[in-house]
Amino acid sequence: MNKKNNKKIALSGVKPTGRPHIGNYFGAMKQFVDMQDDFDIHVFIAEYHAMTTVQDKDALKESIYDLVLDYLAIGLDPEKVTLYRQSDIPELTELTWIFNCLVTVPWLERAHAFKDRTAKGIEASVGLFDYPVLMAADILMPKSEIVPVGKDQIQHVEMAREIARKFNNTYGDTFVEPQEYIVESVETVPGTDGQKMSKSYGNTIPLFGTDKEIKKAIMGIVTDSKLPEEPKNPEECNVFALHTLITPEPQLSEIREGYEKGGLGYGDSKKLLLENYFAFISSMREKRKYFEENPGIVRQILDEGKNNIQSKVRPFMKEIREKVGL
Ligand code: ADP
Ligand code: TRP
Repeated sequence: MNKKNNKKIALSGVKPTGRPHIGNYFGAMKQFVDMQDDFDIHVFIAEYHAMTTVQDKDALKESIYDLVLDYLAIGLDPEKVTLYRQSDIPELTELTWIFNCLVTVPWLERAHAFKDRTAKGIEASVGLFDYPVLMAADILMPKSEIVPVGKDQIQHVEMAREIARKFNNTYGDTFVEPQEYIVESVETVPGTDGQKMSKSYGNTIPLFGTDKEIKKAIMGIVTDSKLPEEPKNPEECNVFALHTLITPEPQLSEIREGYEKGGLGYGDSKKLLLENYFAFISSMREKRKYFEENPGIVRQILDEGKNNIQSKVRPFMKEIREKVGL
Protein backbone atom coordinates (compact mmCIF):
# COMPACT_ATOMS: atom_id res chain seq x y z
CA MET A 1 0.00 0.00 0.00
CA ASN A 2 1.40 3.39 -0.91
CA LYS A 3 1.80 5.90 1.85
CA LYS A 4 0.06 9.18 1.17
CA ASN A 5 2.95 11.64 0.65
CA ASN A 6 5.21 9.45 2.76
CA LYS A 7 3.13 10.07 5.83
CA LYS A 8 2.99 7.34 8.44
CA ILE A 9 -0.17 5.28 8.44
CA ALA A 10 -2.25 5.72 11.59
CA LEU A 11 -5.56 4.06 12.41
CA SER A 12 -8.19 4.05 15.10
CA GLY A 13 -11.84 3.30 15.61
CA VAL A 14 -14.63 3.86 18.08
CA LYS A 15 -17.49 1.45 18.81
CA PRO A 16 -20.99 2.76 18.10
CA THR A 17 -22.41 1.71 21.44
CA GLY A 18 -24.15 4.91 22.52
CA ARG A 19 -23.32 8.57 22.54
CA PRO A 20 -19.63 9.45 22.92
CA HIS A 21 -18.64 11.31 26.08
CA ILE A 22 -15.89 13.81 26.70
CA GLY A 23 -13.59 10.97 27.87
CA ASN A 24 -13.88 9.42 24.41
CA TYR A 25 -13.35 12.82 22.83
CA PHE A 26 -10.27 13.95 24.75
CA GLY A 27 -8.87 10.43 25.20
CA ALA A 28 -9.22 9.31 21.62
CA MET A 29 -11.30 11.19 19.04
CA LYS A 30 -9.57 14.55 19.38
CA GLN A 31 -6.25 12.89 18.60
CA PHE A 32 -7.61 11.79 15.24
CA VAL A 33 -8.37 15.39 14.35
CA ASP A 34 -5.01 16.61 15.66
CA MET A 35 -3.21 13.96 13.58
CA GLN A 36 -5.02 14.41 10.29
CA ASP A 37 -2.48 16.81 8.77
CA ASP A 38 0.61 14.85 9.66
CA PHE A 39 -0.51 11.23 9.28
CA ASP A 40 -2.27 9.17 6.66
CA ILE A 41 -4.98 8.47 9.19
CA HIS A 42 -7.72 5.88 8.92
CA VAL A 43 -10.72 6.33 11.20
CA PHE A 44 -13.58 3.89 11.28
CA ILE A 45 -16.78 2.92 13.02
CA ALA A 46 -16.16 -0.32 14.87
CA GLU A 47 -19.54 -1.91 14.19
CA TYR A 48 -18.51 -5.54 14.44
CA HIS A 49 -16.96 -4.79 17.82
CA ALA A 50 -20.13 -3.01 18.97
CA MET A 51 -22.08 -6.18 18.21
CA THR A 52 -20.34 -7.88 21.13
CA THR A 53 -22.59 -5.78 23.37
CA VAL A 54 -25.38 -4.32 21.20
CA GLN A 55 -27.89 -6.74 19.74
CA ASP A 56 -30.71 -4.29 19.11
CA LYS A 57 -30.84 -3.63 15.36
CA ASP A 58 -32.37 -0.15 15.57
CA ALA A 59 -30.12 0.96 18.40
CA LEU A 60 -27.04 -0.16 16.46
CA LYS A 61 -28.17 1.61 13.29
CA GLU A 62 -28.82 4.81 15.19
CA SER A 63 -25.49 4.72 17.02
CA ILE A 64 -23.61 4.12 13.76
CA TYR A 65 -25.16 7.16 12.12
CA ASP A 66 -24.67 9.25 15.25
CA LEU A 67 -21.01 8.38 15.38
CA VAL A 68 -20.53 9.40 11.75
CA LEU A 69 -22.10 12.77 12.58
CA ASP A 70 -19.92 13.08 15.68
CA TYR A 71 -16.75 12.34 13.72
CA LEU A 72 -17.63 15.01 11.16
CA ALA A 73 -18.73 17.50 13.82
CA ILE A 74 -15.46 17.30 15.77
CA GLY A 75 -13.61 18.29 12.63
CA LEU A 76 -12.48 15.14 10.85
CA ASP A 77 -11.95 16.21 7.28
CA PRO A 78 -12.93 13.49 4.77
CA GLU A 79 -10.43 15.00 2.32
CA LYS A 80 -7.60 14.17 4.70
CA VAL A 81 -8.89 11.13 6.55
CA THR A 82 -9.95 7.73 5.26
CA LEU A 83 -13.28 7.51 7.07
CA TYR A 84 -15.22 4.27 6.78
CA ARG A 85 -17.48 1.71 8.36
CA GLN A 86 -15.82 -1.49 9.56
CA SER A 87 -18.57 -3.51 7.84
CA ASP A 88 -17.47 -2.02 4.50
CA ILE A 89 -14.55 -4.45 4.72
CA PRO A 90 -16.00 -7.89 5.33
CA GLU A 91 -12.48 -9.13 4.52
CA LEU A 92 -11.67 -8.19 8.12
CA THR A 93 -13.69 -11.14 9.34
CA GLU A 94 -11.85 -13.41 6.91
CA LEU A 95 -8.53 -12.14 8.20
CA THR A 96 -9.78 -12.63 11.76
CA TRP A 97 -10.39 -16.28 10.92
CA ILE A 98 -6.90 -16.68 9.50
CA PHE A 99 -5.47 -15.11 12.67
CA ASN A 100 -7.76 -17.26 14.85
CA CYS A 101 -6.00 -20.30 13.49
CA LEU A 102 -2.64 -18.91 14.62
CA VAL A 103 -3.44 -17.86 18.19
CA THR A 104 -4.25 -20.11 21.12
CA VAL A 105 -7.06 -20.09 23.64
CA PRO A 106 -4.77 -19.55 26.70
CA TRP A 107 -3.13 -16.61 24.92
CA LEU A 108 -6.51 -14.97 24.29
CA GLU A 109 -7.64 -15.69 27.85
CA ARG A 110 -5.08 -13.13 29.04
CA ALA A 111 -7.07 -10.25 27.52
CA HIS A 112 -8.29 -7.79 30.21
CA ALA A 113 -11.74 -7.26 28.69
CA PHE A 114 -12.42 -11.00 28.67
CA LYS A 115 -10.96 -11.50 32.17
CA ASP A 116 -13.06 -8.62 33.56
CA ARG A 117 -16.26 -10.08 32.11
CA THR A 118 -15.66 -13.58 33.40
CA ALA A 119 -14.54 -12.23 36.81
CA LYS A 120 -17.99 -10.61 37.07
CA GLY A 121 -19.53 -14.00 36.43
CA ILE A 122 -20.75 -13.05 32.94
CA GLU A 123 -20.34 -15.72 30.28
CA ALA A 124 -18.49 -14.13 27.37
CA SER A 125 -19.71 -14.68 23.82
CA VAL A 126 -17.23 -16.10 21.34
CA GLY A 127 -17.28 -12.66 19.69
CA LEU A 128 -16.19 -10.96 22.89
CA PHE A 129 -13.48 -13.57 23.42
CA ASP A 130 -12.23 -12.95 19.90
CA TYR A 131 -12.41 -9.14 20.19
CA PRO A 132 -8.62 -8.61 20.24
CA VAL A 133 -8.14 -10.74 17.12
CA LEU A 134 -10.70 -8.73 15.14
CA MET A 135 -9.01 -5.57 16.42
CA ALA A 136 -5.66 -6.92 15.18
CA ALA A 137 -7.25 -7.42 11.74
CA ASP A 138 -8.54 -3.81 11.80
CA ILE A 139 -5.07 -2.53 12.57
CA LEU A 140 -2.95 -4.81 10.41
CA MET A 141 -5.03 -4.85 7.23
CA PRO A 142 -4.31 -1.20 6.32
CA LYS A 143 -0.66 -1.66 7.51
CA SER A 144 -1.03 0.85 10.32
CA GLU A 145 2.12 1.92 12.10
CA ILE A 146 0.57 4.15 14.75
CA VAL A 147 -2.62 3.50 16.73
CA PRO A 148 -3.93 6.45 18.79
CA VAL A 149 -5.98 5.04 21.69
CA GLY A 150 -6.74 5.49 25.37
CA LYS A 151 -4.64 3.67 27.95
CA ASP A 152 -7.17 0.83 28.30
CA GLN A 153 -6.47 -0.23 24.73
CA ILE A 154 -2.71 -0.69 25.05
CA GLN A 155 -3.01 -4.43 25.58
CA HIS A 156 -5.03 -4.80 22.39
CA VAL A 157 -2.36 -3.04 20.35
CA GLU A 158 0.30 -5.24 21.97
CA MET A 159 -1.73 -8.29 20.97
CA ALA A 160 -1.98 -6.98 17.39
CA ARG A 161 1.82 -6.72 17.37
CA GLU A 162 2.16 -10.29 18.58
CA ILE A 163 -0.26 -11.53 15.93
CA ALA A 164 1.68 -9.67 13.21
CA ARG A 165 4.89 -11.29 14.42
CA LYS A 166 3.34 -14.74 14.56
CA PHE A 167 1.93 -14.44 11.04
CA ASN A 168 5.22 -13.11 9.68
CA ASN A 169 7.15 -15.97 11.30
CA THR A 170 4.75 -18.53 9.92
CA TYR A 171 4.10 -17.26 6.40
CA GLY A 172 6.86 -14.73 5.71
CA ASP A 173 7.09 -10.98 6.15
CA THR A 174 3.63 -9.52 5.54
CA PHE A 175 2.38 -7.28 8.33
CA VAL A 176 3.79 -4.14 9.93
CA GLU A 177 4.08 -4.23 13.73
CA PRO A 178 1.97 -1.31 15.03
CA GLN A 179 2.72 0.99 17.94
CA GLU A 180 0.15 2.53 20.28
CA TYR A 181 0.07 6.31 20.62
CA ILE A 182 -1.12 7.61 23.96
CA VAL A 183 -1.50 11.26 24.91
CA GLU A 184 -0.32 11.23 28.51
CA SER A 185 -2.24 14.25 29.78
CA VAL A 186 -5.60 12.75 28.83
CA GLU A 187 -4.88 9.10 29.30
CA THR A 188 -7.75 8.84 31.80
CA VAL A 189 -10.42 11.53 31.85
CA PRO A 190 -12.30 11.31 35.16
CA GLY A 191 -16.05 10.92 35.24
CA THR A 192 -18.49 12.91 37.38
CA ASP A 193 -17.87 10.49 40.26
CA GLY A 194 -14.07 10.58 39.99
CA GLN A 195 -13.72 7.08 38.49
CA LYS A 196 -12.62 6.77 34.84
CA MET A 197 -15.38 8.28 32.70
CA SER A 198 -17.12 5.38 31.01
CA LYS A 199 -20.49 4.55 29.44
CA SER A 200 -20.61 1.52 31.70
CA TYR A 201 -20.33 3.55 34.94
CA GLY A 202 -23.09 6.10 34.21
CA ASN A 203 -20.69 8.93 35.09
CA THR A 204 -20.32 10.59 31.71
CA ILE A 205 -20.67 14.05 30.28
CA PRO A 206 -22.13 13.34 26.82
CA LEU A 207 -20.12 15.29 24.23
CA PHE A 208 -23.20 16.36 22.27
CA GLY A 209 -25.68 16.24 25.13
CA THR A 210 -28.44 18.84 25.38
CA ASP A 211 -27.85 21.94 27.53
CA LYS A 212 -29.96 20.32 30.22
CA GLU A 213 -28.02 17.04 30.18
CA ILE A 214 -24.67 18.81 30.27
CA LYS A 215 -25.79 21.06 33.12
CA LYS A 216 -27.08 18.12 35.14
CA ALA A 217 -23.83 16.18 34.63
CA ILE A 218 -21.49 19.09 35.43
CA MET A 219 -23.43 20.39 38.43
CA GLY A 220 -23.53 16.81 39.74
CA ILE A 221 -19.74 16.29 39.75
CA VAL A 222 -18.70 14.83 43.08
CA THR A 223 -16.41 16.99 45.27
CA ASP A 224 -15.38 16.98 48.91
CA SER A 225 -17.21 19.25 51.35
CA LYS A 226 -14.67 22.09 51.73
CA LEU A 227 -16.23 25.54 52.08
CA PRO A 228 -15.69 28.20 49.37
CA GLU A 229 -13.20 30.19 51.48
CA GLU A 230 -11.05 27.19 52.39
CA PRO A 231 -7.88 26.53 50.33
CA LYS A 232 -8.17 23.42 48.16
CA ASN A 233 -5.83 21.26 46.16
CA PRO A 234 -6.89 21.60 42.50
CA GLU A 235 -5.12 18.35 41.62
CA GLU A 236 -7.55 16.45 43.83
CA CYS A 237 -10.69 17.98 42.34
CA ASN A 238 -12.68 16.33 39.53
CA VAL A 239 -14.09 19.70 38.45
CA PHE A 240 -10.60 21.14 38.09
CA ALA A 241 -9.43 18.08 36.14
CA LEU A 242 -12.10 18.89 33.56
CA HIS A 243 -11.18 22.60 33.60
CA THR A 244 -7.67 21.62 32.47
CA LEU A 245 -9.22 20.12 29.33
CA ILE A 246 -11.74 22.82 28.55
CA THR A 247 -10.88 26.14 30.16
CA PRO A 248 -8.39 28.34 28.28
CA GLU A 249 -5.60 30.38 29.84
CA PRO A 250 -5.39 32.81 31.58
CA GLN A 251 -8.69 31.82 33.22
CA LEU A 252 -7.36 28.36 34.07
CA SER A 253 -4.53 29.87 36.16
CA GLU A 254 -7.01 32.18 37.90
CA ILE A 255 -9.17 29.21 38.81
CA ARG A 256 -6.13 27.31 40.08
CA GLU A 257 -5.29 30.29 42.27
CA GLY A 258 -8.88 30.46 43.53
CA TYR A 259 -8.54 26.86 44.66
CA GLU A 260 -5.10 27.20 46.23
CA LYS A 261 -5.72 30.47 48.05
CA GLY A 262 -9.35 29.76 48.85
CA GLY A 263 -12.23 31.93 47.71
CA LEU A 264 -13.49 29.84 44.81
CA GLY A 265 -16.21 27.41 45.86
CA TYR A 266 -16.95 24.17 44.03
CA GLY A 267 -20.38 25.45 42.94
CA ASP A 268 -18.82 28.49 41.24
CA SER A 269 -16.07 26.38 39.74
CA LYS A 270 -18.75 24.13 38.20
CA LYS A 271 -20.65 27.14 36.83
CA LEU A 272 -17.49 28.37 35.13
CA LEU A 273 -16.87 24.91 33.73
CA LEU A 274 -20.40 24.80 32.36
CA GLU A 275 -20.04 28.19 30.66
CA ASN A 276 -16.73 27.18 29.15
CA TYR A 277 -18.12 23.87 27.99
CA PHE A 278 -20.88 25.61 26.06
CA ALA A 279 -18.33 27.94 24.45
CA PHE A 280 -16.08 24.99 23.60
CA ILE A 281 -18.83 22.86 22.03
CA SER A 282 -20.71 25.60 20.18
CA SER A 283 -18.98 25.42 16.77
CA MET A 284 -18.99 21.60 16.85
CA ARG A 285 -22.72 21.65 17.54
CA GLU A 286 -23.25 23.88 14.50
CA LYS A 287 -21.24 21.56 12.33
CA ARG A 288 -23.17 18.56 13.58
CA LYS A 289 -26.44 20.30 12.80
CA TYR A 290 -25.25 21.02 9.26
CA PHE A 291 -24.51 17.35 8.60
CA GLU A 292 -27.75 16.27 10.30
CA GLU A 293 -29.64 18.46 7.87
CA ASN A 294 -27.67 17.20 4.86
CA PRO A 295 -27.84 13.40 4.93
CA GLY A 296 -26.98 13.24 1.21
CA ILE A 297 -23.56 14.73 1.93
CA VAL A 298 -22.98 12.27 4.76
CA ARG A 299 -23.92 9.34 2.49
CA GLN A 300 -21.51 10.60 -0.15
CA ILE A 301 -18.69 10.90 2.39
CA LEU A 302 -19.32 7.32 3.54
CA ASP A 303 -19.43 6.04 -0.06
CA GLU A 304 -16.11 7.68 -0.81
CA GLY A 305 -14.60 6.26 2.37
CA LYS A 306 -15.84 2.81 1.42
CA ASN A 307 -14.40 2.94 -2.11
CA ASN A 308 -11.15 4.31 -0.82
CA ILE A 309 -10.59 1.67 1.87
CA GLN A 310 -11.77 -1.18 -0.33
CA SER A 311 -9.35 -0.25 -3.07
CA LYS A 312 -6.56 -0.28 -0.49
CA VAL A 313 -7.32 -3.54 1.27
CA ARG A 314 -8.66 -5.78 -1.50
CA PRO A 315 -5.31 -6.32 -3.30
CA PHE A 316 -3.62 -6.92 0.05
CA MET A 317 -6.21 -9.52 1.04
CA LYS A 318 -5.52 -11.30 -2.24
CA GLU A 319 -1.84 -11.38 -1.34
CA ILE A 320 -2.64 -12.70 2.16
CA ARG A 321 -4.82 -15.50 0.73
CA GLU A 322 -1.99 -16.57 -1.55
CA LYS A 323 0.48 -16.53 1.34
CA VAL A 324 -1.59 -18.89 3.45
CA GLY A 325 -2.27 -21.24 0.54
CA LEU A 326 -5.84 -20.32 -0.39
P1 ADP B 1 -16.43 3.49 27.35
O1 ADP B 1 -15.54 3.07 28.48
O2 ADP B 1 -17.21 4.68 27.72
O3 ADP B 1 -17.31 2.35 26.85
P2 ADP B 1 -14.93 3.00 24.96
O4 ADP B 1 -14.40 1.73 25.56
O5 ADP B 1 -15.95 2.91 23.88
O6 ADP B 1 -15.50 3.90 26.15
O7 ADP B 1 -13.69 3.86 24.47
C1 ADP B 1 -13.52 4.49 23.19
C2 ADP B 1 -12.18 5.20 23.15
O8 ADP B 1 -12.15 6.27 24.09
C3 ADP B 1 -10.99 4.29 23.51
O9 ADP B 1 -9.86 4.62 22.72
C4 ADP B 1 -10.74 4.60 24.95
O10 ADP B 1 -9.41 4.36 25.34
C5 ADP B 1 -11.09 6.09 25.03
N1 ADP B 1 -11.61 6.41 26.36
C6 ADP B 1 -12.76 5.96 26.91
N2 ADP B 1 -12.96 6.47 28.14
C7 ADP B 1 -11.89 7.26 28.38
C8 ADP B 1 -11.50 8.09 29.48
N3 ADP B 1 -12.26 8.19 30.57
N4 ADP B 1 -10.34 8.75 29.40
C9 ADP B 1 -9.57 8.68 28.29
N5 ADP B 1 -9.88 7.93 27.21
C10 ADP B 1 -11.02 7.24 27.24
N1 TRP C 1 -11.49 -1.54 20.98
C1 TRP C 1 -11.55 -0.15 20.70
C2 TRP C 1 -12.31 0.53 21.86
O1 TRP C 1 -13.01 -0.10 22.60
C3 TRP C 1 -12.22 0.15 19.39
C4 TRP C 1 -11.44 -0.42 18.26
C5 TRP C 1 -11.80 -1.46 17.45
C6 TRP C 1 -10.17 0.04 17.82
N2 TRP C 1 -10.81 -1.69 16.54
C7 TRP C 1 -9.81 -0.80 16.73
C8 TRP C 1 -9.29 1.04 18.24
C9 TRP C 1 -8.58 -0.64 16.08
C10 TRP C 1 -8.08 1.21 17.56
C11 TRP C 1 -7.72 0.36 16.49
O2 TRP C 1 -12.22 1.70 21.97
